[in-house]
Amino acid sequence: MSVKQFAGKKPFPEEGPLPAHIGVIMDGNGRWAVRRGQIRTQGHLEGLNTAKRIVKAASDMGIAYLTLYVFSTENWKRTAEEVGFIMGLVRQYLAAELDFFRQHRIRIRHSGDARGLPPDIAEEIREVCGDTRDFTGLQVILALNYGGRDEIIRGIKRFLEARPSGGELTEASFRQYLDNPDVPDPDLIIRTAGEMRISNFLLWEGAYTEYWGSEKLWPDFTAEDLASAIAWFQSRERRYGGVKG
Ligand code: IPE
Ligand code: IPE
Ligand code: MG
Repeated sequence: MSVKQFAGKKPFPEEGPLPAHIGVIMDGNGRWAVRRGQIRTQGHLEGLNTAKRIVKAASDMGIAYLTLYVFSTENWKRTAEEVGFIMGLVRQYLAAELDFFRQHRIRIRHSGDARGLPPDIAEEIREVCGDTRDFTGLQVILALNYGGRDEIIRGIKRFLEARPSGGELTEASFRQYLDNPDVPDPDLIIRTAGEMRISNFLLWEGAYTEYWGSEKLWPDFTAEDLASAIAWFQSRERRYGGVKG
């Protein structure tokens, strides 16, 4: 399905290239549940359904890369119950969706520190990434135990370990030491639940990203909302510090 079909009668121009890489800060699961008198984990369960819908929509729209912010390096501050529940959902998602990934030629990747994850989750991720690595459709990057600062520090450590011969530290050379160096910088980052902050997401890669905020809580976010964000992106004039024209 095209963005036009999704965007329907939205008052945005629908010209210009699609964003190659979209990042999503999937926020508001807890509030969604609490507003319904439910426990926070119920919001994460519903949030997983939204994530599945958005992966399908991005795949149908022909988006090349989608990074989903699943769990930050700061989210360990939450209760053991909530953290355990989220990790359980990740495990369930990876195991249950493999046929879907195959059917849609979706490649799964990871960003973040795998060493800090429960070993079974790290292993599951390794397997799914391996099983889907040759698929040429949408690439879904799961940012799990991910922090932008942590990624930069791990990158610096890897650079120092490798000490590439004659290798000068430049923006371009350093980029090779990020988690997924071949993935282009995000063109568009979407954040739900009305917050306008980065919360440690793609700090290096997001230097010139267009930011789109939605008041909707993540469980309420739809494919049409994604299409609206994309249509808005297509109306943006990106200058990268230069001047118009
Ligand atoms: C986003 O929803 C999911 C994660 C951060 C894992 P939240 O759990 O942050 O929901 P709110 O912000 O408390 O509503
Ligand atoms: C950002 O949301 C992290 C994820 C969506 C995984 P948070 O809910 O953790 O961010 P803050 O605490 O509101 O900044
Ligand atoms: Mg939150």
